[in-house]
Amino acid sequence: MIIEKVSFLNIRKTSEAHYSFIPETNIIIGENGAGKTTILETLFLLSTSKSFRKKQNKALLKEGKKTLKAQGFFIENNTEKKIKIEIENNKKTIAKNNQRIKKTSELLSENPMVCMSPEETDVIESYKSEKMKYFDKIIFKIEKEHIKDIKEYNKLLLYRNTLLEQKKETSIWDKQIATKGISIWKRREEKIKEIIESFKKVQKEIKTEGYTVEYINNKTDNEKVYVKKLKEKKNQEKTRFGPQTDTMIFKKEEQNLQEHGSQGEKKLFKHLLKLAEASLLKAKTKKTPIILLDDFFDKLDNKNIMKIFIYFHCKFQTIITTTETNINIIKNMLGLEEKQIKIIKCQQ
Ligand SMILES: Nc1ncnc2c1ncn2[C@@H]1O[C@H](COP(=O)(O)OP(=O)(O)OP(=O)(O)O)[C@@H](O)[C@H]1O
Ligand SMILES: [Mg+2]
Repeated sequence: MIIEKVSFLNIRKTSEAHYSFIPETNIIIGENGAGKTTILETLFLLSTSKSFRKKQNKALLKEGKKTLKAQGFFIENNTEKKIKIEIENNKKTIAKNNQRIKKTSELLSENPMVCMSPEETDVIESYKSEKMKYFDKIIFKIEKEHIKDIKEYNKLLLYRNTLLEQKKETSIWDKQIATKGISIWKRREEKIKEIIESFKKVQKEIKTEGYTVEYINNKTDNEKVYVKKLKEKKNQEKTRFGPQTDTMIFKKEEQNLQEHGSQGEKKLFKHLLKLAEASLLKAKTKKTPIILLDDFFDKLDNKNIMKIFIYFHCKFQTIITTTETNINIIKNMLGLEEKQIKIIKCQQ
């Protein structure tokens, strides 16, 4: 699936904008603060109803304005589809072909996108649980049940921890927690295995080497053992046994990437993860996601840029942002496949 064009009003500093895209690679060029990330943010909003920047949606609305509007025309199997979002007084209205969409989860499966931006939470530098959240979000996209399970588990955990704080008996929740915890572990193990497989394939294809992803947990699949563990002393102040303690470890040549990796290596790794996600979504959902790469050229060397570029180019519709400083690298890319790259000037 691809996006053909987008129009928006009152998003960040932009009062009004209209852009159209080609199905292959689109490169948006503009100065710092011109509104390049804003364009990607708008596309992501049309796909998820949220922003990818760490700060919340509230800052999306242009200062002094009351209503924000965005509209995107997508093409799927030769049919055009219009997605429209309006936010007024924090109230969101979403429509597909002029029909209201009531649940955000319905929007999520319409136009999948995979976005990589320096302004989103950094999966390498973030805390244990944030790392896990990053992977859970990928699982949500391939198995909706996972969202429900995680929500229910977190609710049960809150009940149990509240009782612990009040020094009360927790047995009424322990069995339910164990059942949910085990099913979350089972799904995470299964799906993360698929993500890691996809990651390995991408790595092989673009000929980078030595990067690995590991899923770390203290899993059991036996309910009795689970409940027994919950009753251990260390779980009497706060529940410290269960999937909430899971995390991921990233390595390069057996060394922890967070501690030892260079900036470029870290950025390359994050792209490998995104490409793995895109390939997996394509295989699992039968919809080809759109790839958004914010500030793509920053910190990567020319060799790595070309490797990543060759991987996604013509397999996915890709929308990249960059400043003019990278015009020479772009000329290199244009030399390869001129007709399939569109340069878009961002001037507002
Ligand atoms: N709610 C808002 N209302 C008005 N202006 C805003 C709002 N939020 C952000 N801005 C402004 O919008 C601009 C940010 O645009 P954006 O991040 O899209 O730029 P960019 O082209 O990606 O820049 P860079 O090259 O630095 O990444 C900044 O000048 C910022 O001050
Ligand atoms: Mg930017």
